[in-house]
Amino acid sequence: AARLRVREALEAREPAGEVKVQGWVRSVRSQKEVLFLHINDGSSLESLQVVADPSLENRDLTFGSAVEVQGELVKSPHKMQDMELKAEAIRVVGPCDTWLFPLKMKERHPLEYVRQFPHLRCRNNTLSSLLRIRSEATAGIHAFFQDNGYVHIHTPIITSNDCEGAGELFQIETSNEGRESTEKSHFFNVPAFLTVSGQLHLEVMAGAFTRVFTFGPTFRAENSQSRRHLAEFYMVEAELSFTESLQDIMQVMEDLFKTVTTTVLSKCPRDVELFHKYIAPGQKDRLEQMLKTKFVTISYSEAVEILKQASQTFTFKPEWGCNLQMEHEKYLVKHCGEVPVFVINYPYDLKPFYMRDNEDGPQHTVAAVDLLVPGIGELCGGSLREERLPFLESRLQRLGLTDAYQWYLDLRKFGSVPHGGFGMGFERYLQYILGVGNIKDVIPFPRFPHSCLL
Ligand code: 4AD
Ligand code: MG
Repeated sequence: AARLRVREALEAREPAGEVKVQGWVRSVRSQKEVLFLHINDGSSLESLQVVADPSLENRDLTFGSAVEVQGELVKSPHKMQDMELKAEAIRVVGPCDTWLFPLKMKERHPLEYVRQFPHLRCRNNTLSSLLRIRSEATAGIHAFFQDNGYVHIHTPIITSNDCEGAGELFQIETSNEGRESTEKSHFFNVPAFLTVSGQLHLEVMAGAFTRVFTFGPTFRAENSQSRRHLAEFYMVEAELSFTESLQDIMQVMEDLFKTVTTTVLSKCPRDVELFHKYIAPGQKDRLEQMLKTKFVTISYSEAVEILKQASQTFTFKPEWGCNLQMEHEKYLVKHCGEVPVFVINYPYDLKPFYMRDNEDGPQHTVAAVDLLVPGIGELCGGSLREERLPFLESRLQRLGLTDAYQWYLDLRKFGSVPHGGFGMGFERYLQYILGVGNIKDVIPFPRFPHSCLL
């Protein structure tokens, strides 16, 4: 018999004769005359209905067990589905102790509950929908860049630089076993860290390929338990050469966001619907509205003025030269009509060494941009990069970083061009489009302070 995935069976238009379907039992209902099963193999949110003679029932055939069903795929007389499987043989491949299994039949478990079982929560509808969406969004992001002439670069995970200069680095330690007696620690005796961003490596490559992107894990040793921070998260980063205006970078961010979201909505409508129905009612309409709206742009200085008008509502008083807090970002998004907002031109002293000097004053700024979105705050961060050797040299000198960044200065000596780019937090992106409150629920295995289960 031909092996069929559940999704193929559900989408079949014609009876398919003798087939074999494998999966996990989502429900068992035993009646006098007939035994109903629903089996799911992760290929779709919907499960396949199996109809069997009660004589095929067996003690191990329970919710959660793994089964192989052989039978005939026929048109279903029930209006809930087009096709069903008329079983001739059911084999329990792996039984499941339903007493101990933390998931229960036909229950909609809260996200906080299933978070306790990172090894089992993918067998739950919400997480399995999330992971299919995550997979489609990943493919959509790669397609967006490949379609627009970008080369994909594998930037390293182990690196010697602190791109953001924020000191949120995880340092690499060689374990005792692997260590030569003379080597004390670190990465074979040289300091090395887990990457916080692939940007500097992308800048190298943009100097040869013009447009490049990367999409991989990044690491931040931020001691934050917030619902939008992880210690390990995925970042989408792009870098473009021959770019003189921040607007060009912002256009790519907006196009990426809208194109990928449109793809996800059309590729997995049922999975997305689950979130928009049960987790974030109203999010579907807001998202569709947003896809039709041009994102708003304001400058950092304007943002501070807007915030000052509402000073009394904040714990942190807004002041020119200070970082925008989550509460400030939320207020700005609301003020602009609950649409995504670009905030541009941040104070020079707030931002990393690589950002391009706007040479203005007395309020000195750099050509930086953050994209803020409803419910989340910062989704993307980007900038024009300082491509002028004297500016970069003097800034690195003042920071005492000249030695470490000789190679980066080199890039400004051998065919330097105006360039810029950005990074988008992939988990925050998923949180936003699906309306998920906690970032721990949009990644398969979350890592955050004091937690590294599995
Ligand atoms: O703003 P960030 O720090 O920018 C950079 O790293 C740049 N070097 C990117 C570039 O220009 N190529 O981080 C980019 C985005 C943030 O806007 C946020 O969405 C996400 O990464 N992010 C996090 N997501 C989850 N957990 C964390 N701890 C995050 N830190 C940043
Ligand atoms: Mg940032």
